[in-house]
Amino acid sequence: MAEEKAVPKAAAVKNVAVLGIGAMGTALAAALLSAGHTVTVWNRTARKAEGLVEKGARRAESPAEAIGASEIVLVCILDYADVGPLLADGGAGEALRGRIVVNLTNGSPAEARELAERVSGLGADYLDGGIMAVPGLIGTPHAFVLYSGPENAFEASRGVLDACARSVYLGADPGLAPLNDLALLSGMYGMFGGFLHAAALVRSAGGKVTEFTRELLVPWLLAMAGNQLPAMAEQADSGDYGATGSNLAMQVSHDAIGAVSRAQGVSNELFAPLWALMERRVADGHGEESFAGVLELVHPRGR
Ligand SMILES: NC(=O)c1ccc[n+]([C@@H]2O[C@H](COP(=O)([O-])OP(=O)(O)OC[C@H]3O[C@@H](n4cnc5c(N)ncnc54)[C@H](OP(=O)(O)O)[C@@H]3O)[C@@H](O)[C@H]2O)c1
Repeated sequence: MAEEKAVPKAAAVKNVAVLGIGAMGTALAAALLSAGHTVTVWNRTARKAEGLVEKGARRAESPAEAIGASEIVLVCILDYADVGPLLADGGAGEALRGRIVVNLTNGSPAEARELAERVSGLGADYLDGGIMAVPGLIGTPHAFVLYSGPENAFEASRGVLDACARSVYLGADPGLAPLNDLALLSGMYGMFGGFLHAAALVRSAGGKVTEFTRELLVPWLLAMAGNQLPAMAEQADSGDYGATGSNLAMQVSHDAIGAVSRAQGVSNELFAPLWALMERRVADGHGEESFAGVLELVHPRGR
């Protein structure tokens, strides 16, 4: 079934360069073409752009040529460390003057701040972006992208960015998008790790993981996410970890998950580090508080 588009066609057609036509760059360029923008693509391995050229993209021979043809430059390559050299290669630096660079390559906050400085030194605006989607979701309502950098550059490029995904602006510090991107991924991997341990327990007892996941795990996690996370988030902000029905001492009174895992032949490697923190928090005298108090061991308030 075809996915609904994320946003209506862009009001103002723009000239956009997409540097890096891997899985994600291809999806971004295709969404921009569908929205009616003029798209110039460049890829290190030129033949990978052929499909996009058939859809109406122009192919540039170099990053400088693509940048020169465009007002907004999206960059989406594998490694952040390669973006700076790419934007300085063969006259690309001079071509950047007056452009808006939107770097969607995953990196760290420090890398984003450093690159923002280099790009503004070349007379261009810099936005850093964190894509919260897989390529197949680009151009659909399920995709969103985090942006940080100068607000006027975000507003000026928003019509273009909205063609790829819902755009979420986080603030002027370029490091905000990668930081929040990594925070979201941390939440996701925690959930995925929990899924693996749960799947191992169910499988060890001969159960069907598909059925367990559909009938029990997903409804349970949705209920926990909707009910517990907002309450724990408030506690994280306030530092007041008063228990709301389930105190930590009760939760760690016996290591049932570890014991059953061992009995079932399931490795406890995924779960044990979290359990150790919960026990330590109780040993530190916070047994009457909620699970959220474990945050103080990971990041003490005021640090
Ligand atoms: N795919 C996802 O689900 C997803 C989701 C969110 C964010 N992202 C981020 O999007 C970025 C791109 O991911 P992808 O999935 O498109 O990866 P990919 O399919 O492996 O494509 C990598 C792209 O980077 C280019 N590249 C690698 N090294 C380069 C260099 N030194 N100079 C110039 N170009 C270079 C490749 O060019 P060649 O074709 O010449 O090798 C290719 O176009 C990554 O930072 C990734 O973290 C991806």
